[in-house]
Amino acid sequence: MAADTLFRRITDYANRANPYPLYAELREHGVVRQDDGSYLVGTYHEIAALLHDPRISSDPCNRTVPDIVPDETAGIPLAFIRRDDPEHERLRNIAMRPFGPPHCPSRIDAMHGEIIAIAKDLIDALRGRDRIDLVEDFAYPLPVTVICRLLGVPSEDEPQFHVWSEAVIAALDPAPGSDPAERESAAAAARAAMGQYLGQLADNRRGKPSDDMLSAFVNDPGPDGGFTRPELMSTAVLLLIAGHETTVNLIANGMLTLLRHPEALERLRREPELMPRAVEELLRYEPPVHMLPWRAALTGVEVSGVTVPKGAPLTLVLASGNRDPRRFHDPDRFDPTRRDNQHFGFGSGVHSCFGAPLARVEAQIALTELVRRLKSPRLLQDPPPYRRSPILRGPRHLPLEIVGIGA
Ligand code: HEM
Repeated sequence: MAADTLFRRITDYANRANPYPLYAELREHGVVRQDDGSYLVGTYHEIAALLHDPRISSDPCNRTVPDIVPDETAGIPLAFIRRDDPEHERLRNIAMRPFGPPHCPSRIDAMHGEIIAIAKDLIDALRGRDRIDLVEDFAYPLPVTVICRLLGVPSEDEPQFHVWSEAVIAALDPAPGSDPAERESAAAAARAAMGQYLGQLADNRRGKPSDDMLSAFVNDPGPDGGFTRPELMSTAVLLLIAGHETTVNLIANGMLTLLRHPEALERLRREPELMPRAVEELLRYEPPVHMLPWRAALTGVEVSGVTVPKGAPLTLVLASGNRDPRRFHDPDRFDPTRRDNQHFGFGSGVHSCFGAPLARVEAQIALTELVRRLKSPRLLQDPPPYRRSPILRGPRHLPLEIVGIGA
């Protein structure tokens, strides 16, 4: 089969449950040029080099083979995940100030007890049930509650921003058949509505500091200065969406993988201190973010003997790099004790995940509590139904049978 149909097969929903054989094919081809002029890269060392290469841009305006350029007319500028340095660095530094070191080194540690309490309440609420949907009942509400508390967003408004969040994410999907311009305009409207809502919440805190990030953004500017209001809106939207759409997949993919590997689940029940390493292996083996589709070359860049021309869209298939046998020993094996494990679960380079320390703690606590307290969990559907996205990949539902809830 021609290489240029590979991306269509990778993004085909029929292959969502197991795209890994297609990634193996991608690695054999090296760099794949598709008939629309875009390029796909799936080998570890090439992805690593590109993620650290200043000639590769994250700004969609640098693509000369445009797909749809995001609509900024609604007053929300592109968030820093889609900007290049020095603007990216300035905005990331401002956003980081109330989130972690050096200014707030204990922010995530301080949330440890709170995350355990949220996990405990969600599991307690399952008492008396013999069937659960791990996504709806646990994996989704946990990170959403956490990101709402961190930002200072009332969680009762969650159903509304769930709808906005889905519209923004839908625009990222290369779903054949649906009109990309329509999806982009729906996403721009959702980003704008979400941004207005978050901007208003931040305005309400001006001059009345509280212990959340929106308050810090308006009341505690650092040496880089503060955000303009549009910058604050786009950053808050980015954080809220990142908090919604990624950790849920790590927890759900994680539980699915452990249930498929009962010996690993049993071992983690006996030795919970192994969980941090198991979570790193899950980030490699079943990562929540499968690909980064929004890069562009600023000048001709050679990758494995192929010149990717200036402006060409570039998709980096992180989940394929994570299974590259030239980098990882026995990469298709789930090994929760793996040591040499520098995966791309959180990307790499200047855009590497801002929320990684939080996501790690959430997943470690979530899986430790699930493994400890769910009695005899059993998968009711394998593979489970997946969410549509080939980019942010994870189960839409994860139906389980349980015989009870432990203390
Ligand atoms: C398991 C959960 C998560 C995964 C797998 C994940 C993955 C990623 C990846 C792969 C990137 C790189 C994007 C790129 O290079 O273009 C990224 C960036 C980012 N993530 Fe996460 N993420 C997770 C959770 C979070 C959370 C909870 C937050 C917010 C608190 C967050 C905020 C961000 C931000 C702001 C960026 C952009 C960083 C930049 O452009 O400098 N992420 N994430």
